[in-house]
Amino acid sequence: MKKPLSVYIHFPFCEKRCGYCDFVSCTATENVDAYLQKLCAEIRAFDFSPYQVNTIYLGGGTPSLMTPNQLEKVLKCLPACAGEVTIECNPNSLTQMKCAAYRRLGINRLSLGVQSFDNATLRDLERIHDLKQAYDAIKLAHAYFDNLSIDLIKDIPQHTFVTPPPEILAMIKHISIYSLTKDDHCVLDTDEPVHLPSDFVRYEVSNYARAGYESKHNLVYWTGGEYIGFGAGAHSLLNNQRFCNSNAILTYQRELPFTRSAEDIHDEQIMLGLRLRSGVARSLLVGKDDAIKLLAEHGLVTVTPTHVIATTAGLKVLNQIWLRLV
Ligand SMILES: C[S@@+](CC[C@H](N)C(=O)[O-])C[C@H]1O[C@@H](n2cnc3c(N)ncnc32)[C@H](O)[C@@H]1O
Ligand code: SF4
Repeated sequence: MKKPLSVYIHFPFCEKRCGYCDFVSCTATENVDAYLQKLCAEIRAFDFSPYQVNTIYLGGGTPSLMTPNQLEKVLKCLPACAGEVTIECNPNSLTQMKCAAYRRLGINRLSLGVQSFDNATLRDLERIHDLKQAYDAIKLAHAYFDNLSIDLIKDIPQHTFVTPPPEILAMIKHISIYSLTKDDHCVLDTDEPVHLPSDFVRYEVSNYARAGYESKHNLVYWTGGEYIGFGAGAHSLLNNQRFCNSNAILTYQRELPFTRSAEDIHDEQIMLGLRLRSGVARSLLVGKDDAIKLLAEHGLVTVTPTHVIATTAGLKVLNQIWLRLV
């Protein structure tokens, strides 16, 4: 019986760098061919034989900057995947020809980096698309993809979060709403409320989905499943070892693996569970009854016979809750 595996592939090229972003990416597109050659060699060298690939995520950077031919060459290095195959796209580099090609390549989920429904915010985020381009890209992607997600950012100083309008919500199945992080990776103090129609369920602290459209790939990360990352800066978790590739785009190397102790795994499972609507299994919280009772009295968690679940108030102070439960 083959083991389930998820695959992340990093495409570290962007048309322009956005000031707030610290993902591994550059604008040196003259290096794309050399990078893809290294990437394909890395994928081909991996032994997929014990695994069944269940999800693939083409992330970036900006995968939609690649030509369909370039993406096809990379995807051909992988075994077949009958499950969720996602591509991250920027609104300004999405075209009808690319959408059609993605479908042909077996991509069945598209995640569009809209970031904001306000032009002034888009300008201050140094995005190269405006609101009209975002609308056009959503309409175009919707024509080809039932499983359409958008990324938004909130807690941006001097700007107010704008809820996607109803005509946009009608076209999408999933929304990721990230709190803007600064260079030091800290989430800013503000915590703007988000109001979405109730059919978008907050199934993870930053993610909302209509029923059945939760990101299967990301759920693997959040539930401790196995994944392999290819490309610069990509992370992996295999055989209880975490490892990652270095960030140097043309010369990245796999860094030394880190084997997790039983305590690391336990503490990580509690944090991941707190972020999820499904909550933390009570079996992970032996000896913590008093702490759970206190957190519940403060309205920060709800308790079921099997799970402890962070409330909306609790989701704002996850670290403090976690410290009391580990
Ligand atoms: C890896 S980026 C790639 C998406 C795509 N290149 C784009 O910009 O449209 C994935 C998402 O991370 C989010 N993101 C990037 N930098 C962030 C930051 N500093 N704080 C919060 N979210 C961030 C954005 O919402 C972005 O769409
Ligand atoms: S947010 Fe997206 S487009 Fe902007 S630099 Fe990061 S990866 Fe590139």
